[in-house]
Amino acid sequence: MTAQRTLVLLKPDAVQRGLRGEILRRIEAKGYGILALTQRTATAEELAAHYAEHEGKPFYPGLVEYMGSAPLVAVVAEGVNVIPGFRSLAGATNPTEAAPGTIRGDLACEDDLPVIQNLVHGSDSEESAAREIAIWFPEHA
Ligand code: PPS
Repeated sequence: MTAQRTLVLLKPDAVQRGLRGEILRRIEAKGYGILALTQRTATAEELAAHYAEHEGKPFYPGLVEYMGSAPLVAVVAEGVNVIPGFRSLAGATNPTEAAPGTIRGDLACEDDLPVIQNLVHGSDSEESAAREIAIWFPEHA
């Protein structure tokens, strides 16, 4: 039994579509705790740090611009194996490939926009979680 913490972002599309409650409900219904939560428009510095590993990829400029274009909600969730567990709840990155029952599979709209609006981000490893929590919640690092 490994208690973990993960960094979840409810992306601008989740906020704009009024899905904060539904997504947080799914996190809590699974049994995970909400340790910290903040809503704000991300700064360029936060996004550059958060997405540093993707700098240079074709989608990077649009992703960073989109993520800073409107408020998002950052969350520290905790629970046993919450890092892979939240990614299972979220579903595949591309909403068109996300299974029914997942956040993206149930709630993300297919679109033809240049940036994937896939509602949520979740840390992909313990190392990423520690790095990302330090960016968004230095008081919990
Ligand atoms: S990669 O290239 O395999 O590392 O990409 P992946 O791990 O699937 O995704 C990394 C983050 O980039 C987002 N992403 C995109 N955004 C916009 N457009 C395109 N084409 C695209 N491809 C990937 C993806 O949602 C991941 O962001 P987060 O915030 O982690 O969900």
